[in-house]
Amino acid sequence: MAPSKYDSKQYWDDRFLNEDSFEWLASYSKLQPILDTAISKTARVLNLGCGNSYLPFDMYNSGYQSLDNMDFSATVIEKMVAKTEELYGAESPAIAAIRWTVQDALKMDNIEEGSWDAVIDKSTSDCIACMDTNGELLETLSRQLEFYALHGYLIVEKFLTDEEIDMYRDESELLAT
Ligand SMILES: C[S@@+](CC[C@H](N)C(=O)[O-])C[C@H]1O[C@@H](n2cnc3c(N)ncnc32)[C@H](O)[C@@H]1O
Repeated sequence: MAPSKYDSKQYWDDRFLNEDSFEWLASYSKLQPILDTAISKTARVLNLGCGNSYLPFDMYNSGYQSLDNMDFSATVIEKMVAKTEELYGAESPAIAAIRWTVQDALKMDNIEEGSWDAVIDKSTSDCIACMDTNGELLETLSRQLEFYALHGYLIVEKFLTDEEIDMYRDESELLAT
């Protein structure tokens, strides 16, 4: 995939400064049948490259109890922490259930194998594909995600080509594209 503005962390930081919320690709209402079939409400879920999507709030409101949200933009994570408090209140159980961490998906060290039961990659690998000149980054990401959610589910919603998504198929159970 050709280089584009989406490969720059600066682009995302700048964008998140001025943007309250944006849902890439499908929203929870469309994904719900797939997510609810694959992921139990008590599952430990990782939402990688969370951005400022309302997916974690919609999932929490629908009964999911453990939602880790990660993004490499500190700007968006800070805003989403504040948004969670604004929506639910500082004393709400939602604060413990919907967690936010600044994390580069390609540099996730010190994570234990099988830390999550399900990983959601909603257009994050699209973004990583923009900076991936020879497929190495997507391959690394794919290997890592399998390690995080050993025996779990990887749910990918993507703009990727079929060849790119085959890398996930090789190593993971793919439920949705
Ligand atoms: C296309 S947006 C998708 C956002 C959200 N998942 C959604 O569905 O609306 C891609 C997101 O991935 C994040 N991202 C890109 N590369 C990343 C990386 N290496 N590590 C963590 N997050 C990354 C961006 O900051 C952005 O929030």
